Amino acid sequence: MYYFREDLKSKKPVNINVPDKRIKMGLNESSLDPFEVVKEEFLEKMKNVHLNRYFNDITKTLRKQLANYAEVAPECLAFGNGADEMLYYLFNSVRNDNNSFAVSLAPSYFDYKSYSGAVGLGIKFLSLNTDFDFSVEKYLKLCDNENCKLAVLCNPNNPTGNLLNENKIIEILKRSNQLVLIDETYFEFSGKTFADKIYEYPNLVIVRSFSKSFSAAGLRFGYIISHPDNIKELEKVMTLFHLNLMTQTMISTMLEKKEVFLEHNKKIIQNKEDVYQKLSAINGISVHPSATNFLTFSAGDRTEDLFNFLNQNDIAIRPVWHHPVLVKHVRVTISNAGHNAAFLKNMKKFMEEN
Ligand SMILES: Cc1ncc(COP(=O)(O)O)c(C=O)c1O
Repeated sequence: MYYFREDLKSKKPVNINVPDKRIKMGLNESSLDPFEVVKEEFLEKMKNVHLNRYFNDITKTLRKQLANYAEVAPECLAFGNGADEMLYYLFNSVRNDNNSFAVSLAPSYFDYKSYSGAVGLGIKFLSLNTDFDFSVEKYLKLCDNENCKLAVLCNPNNPTGNLLNENKIIEILKRSNQLVLIDETYFEFSGKTFADKIYEYPNLVIVRSFSKSFSAAGLRFGYIISHPDNIKELEKVMTLFHLNLMTQTMISTMLEKKEVFLEHNKKIIQNKEDVYQKLSAINGISVHPSATNFLTFSAGDRTEDLFNFLNQNDIAIRPVWHHPVLVKHVRVTISNAGHNAAFLKNMKKFMEEN
């Protein structure tokens, strides 16, 4: 007897396959612990947040602060437990029936497939070219179907690291008949946003995260920016009180001290330039430019052995070689100077000895 939705039978559980090592450079996390930054202010704020209650004014305060940060009106926002949860809600809200599907480029964020699958929304992919660009006509052709409910664009794209061509994104916003999701999880590193265009394009939905540039992967906070009419529809599939008051208080405190996190990002961007130069100088390594906090690179036929060597030396990076466009590629998260140096030292050692 199978008690669940028929299509779940053949699906695998959502799972991240990254080794847990001392030096964590596999998941695009930050090396800065946000609790250390805001501990005192957070505990002070919590004195007015009572966890025996469902409601607290902190929700309104946070909405205003976030609106101020994102430079949009408060009613243009919906927030929850990470960009992932917001994707889940969005996928759920656009799915009409078993034929509904989304369109995404590939390779892109792996979990678009996991979460669309989780809510029974199909997903079709258009492969990027080898230069990580794509044909806008081919993309729009895939979308040109009454069952296509969402066009997904990750900008900058994970795991290739590049910004997509702006004119192509605009073309898609103008010509597609469905919602267009732009995933701006790495926005603070790229500096590029479409948030100022939500009134110009009522089909535009943006998702962002606090896991990368606000150093808070374990806290789980993400948000959607869109026209208020879209936010109202999205809220119909969201559970009430899904984002606990403690997280809301922590995020509110972090926004009060946002300069600390944004300064840290500047350092990460500088570190990335440094690691990029040093990696490029190693014989046998080819690195792609990146508008994010990670670098994607290849060591040709030696990539898999290199990945295992780093693992053995307690450094976790991420294999991204499963798509033909990134065959023999891995991705490394830029971290603090110590971790970056340990990574580079082991990279050189492996490449010189193998
Ligand atoms: C492109 C992209 N979107 C969404 C997410 C999920 O972010 P969050 O931790 O806020 O759920 C990630 C995390 O790596 C990502 O790279």
